[in-house]
Amino acid sequence: MSQTLVNPVPQHIAIIMDGNGRWAQERNLPRLAGHNAGAKAVERTLKAAQKAGVKCLTLYAFSTENWSRPKDEIEGLFNLLEQTLDRYTQDAAKHGLRLLVSGEKEPLPSAILEKIAYSVKSTEHNTGLTLNLALNYGARQEIVHAVNALLAAGKQQISMQDISQHLYQPQLPEPELIIRTSGEERLSNFLLWQAAYSELYFSPVLWPDFNEQEFEKALSDYRTRRRRFGAL
Ligand code: FPP
Repeated sequence: MSQTLVNPVPQHIAIIMDGNGRWAQERNLPRLAGHNAGAKAVERTLKAAQKAGVKCLTLYAFSTENWSRPKDEIEGLFNLLEQTLDRYTQDAAKHGLRLLVSGEKEPLPSAILEKIAYSVKSTEHNTGLTLNLALNYGARQEIVHAVNALLAAGKQQISMQDISQHLYQPQLPEPELIIRTSGEERLSNFLLWQAAYSELYFSPVLWPDFNEQEFEKALSDYRTRRRRFGAL
């Protein structure tokens, strides 16, 4: 049965890419093999988002809680991120990709910080898809960061608009849709402020298996939802 598409294609989709470890475990592979396969799913998703006309994708690449993982896994993840940043920056002009990174810089390795600064700077004028990588990101930290910036500016009273304007990427629209893969159904400290009216979509698929078809499924589901924003 076809359903009426009541919503336009979202401008901003945010994704919690979950299930890399389980994907690897199911194949008796090291967890890093899952992250490598996850990086390929990122490429597929970028293409699918571009094709669908989405303007911005925020991807949860490394949370402030991920530091408690084994050192080898963290190092492997950072290597993968460095390679990905290099590749995206080289190809960015071709695809018009603009890269943003959201999260606390401390204590990211300096090599990564330099790459991030270079990638962000060299893609800043691109007008295609915006890829906002949440890296060493935590939503509570982001809200505290905004409040501290306001206190430092001498604010005595803080409004909702003040907080929105001091998040890591105040220029981005709030995500209309947040997707989480692997069957887990929670936000895990992701975009808590911005998610106030986001539609949530939980996919049973493990992130390394995520593809254009799954992306389209999430998009169609979103497009049929009645968004009321608290009104009738
Ligand atoms: C969650 O799976 C995934 C992560 C903690 C990292 C996400 C990283 C990638 C998708 C790889 C590369 C990213 C980019 C942007 C190139 P998990 O390890 O928690 O899976 P599990 O819950 O099955 O253990």
